[in-house]
Amino acid sequence: MALPAPSATTTAVITGASSGLGAQFAEQLSALGYHVTVVARRRDRLDAVVAACSIAGRSGATALAADLSSAEGRDAFLSELAAAGRRCSILINNAGFSTLGPVAEANRTAEVTMVATNCTAIVDLTTALLPAMVAAGGGAICNVASTAAFQPVPFQAGYGATKAFVLSYTEALAAEVAGRGVTVTALCPGPVETEFASVAGFTEDSVNLLPKAMWVEASAVVGAAIGGLRTGRRVVIPGRVNAIAARVARFSPRGPLTTVMARRHPGKK
Ligand SMILES: NC(=O)c1ccc[n+]([C@@H]2O[C@H](COP(=O)([O-])OP(=O)(O)OC[C@H]3O[C@@H](n4cnc5c(N)ncnc54)[C@H](OP(=O)(O)O)[C@@H]3O)[C@@H](O)[C@H]2O)c1
Repeated sequence: MALPAPSATTTAVITGASSGLGAQFAEQLSALGYHVTVVARRRDRLDAVVAACSIAGRSGATALAADLSSAEGRDAFLSELAAAGRRCSILINNAGFSTLGPVAEANRTAEVTMVATNCTAIVDLTTALLPAMVAAGGGAICNVASTAAFQPVPFQAGYGATKAFVLSYTEALAAEVAGRGVTVTALCPGPVETEFASVAGFTEDSVNLLPKAMWVEASAVVGAAIGGLRTGRRVVIPGRVNAIAARVARFSPRGPLTTVMARRHPGKK
């Protein structure tokens, strides 16, 4: 089994666990017997996740509030994790968000913060925590990408590029550590009902335009991810329609594809 067994000296670190997919990862890994360390900026929301994971018979949970978009935030988080005394045997790099709209009208800080959260934090935490997994001969990393990773996304240009980065980084790393007891998986969900759309600024009407067949429940997305971690899958795309659409997008000629997408994207002004 690729997923390391729960133990008294290890923890599953889940970033972006104050809502959505991250909170689901915390719930499901905790129910499987893992101690979980949940990370995000909103301390009150993390405390609620910890309370939900701290019911009798489970291994407990720790909340570490941190802004992972900054180097200082990541350093502080890694110091607190080391001080807590449990080795990270599972790392779920899930924290992320999207901006929306034309780059010509974008906010510089928001764009750069998105790259830092979606990409830099994943590279930094992976680089910091992978060596101990390799030394122990066991570990699992799940990097949350998106079906947006499979083609450029006009009007979410930066977001699509961050997720293409995550997919490329993950697939390369998976090949690097193959045979060393550590697995690396890219989770590529299609649309999921979380706080993601409202944080990005999508209207309810534009969200409702997405075909129903593409939507997968957060619990099912995380269930598919954990199934993929167990079997050491490199890429997990929850939902049959999303898996087919991702494959079609990946191999479509980019010129016509991005032209059509640019015409239809709700972020177009
Ligand atoms: N929902 C979708 O349709 C969808 C589809 C494909 C991929 N994804 C990906 O799935 C992942 C999880 O998103 P979600 O759908 O669960 O959305 P969500 O409910 O908005 O959750 C995002 C999480 O990221 C955390 N976060 C954001 N910026 C952070 C920062 N600077 N430092 C630390 N934590 C930060 C948020 O916590 P705080 O605000 O408390 O910091 C929150 O816990 C993201 O990587 C997203 O790109 C989502």
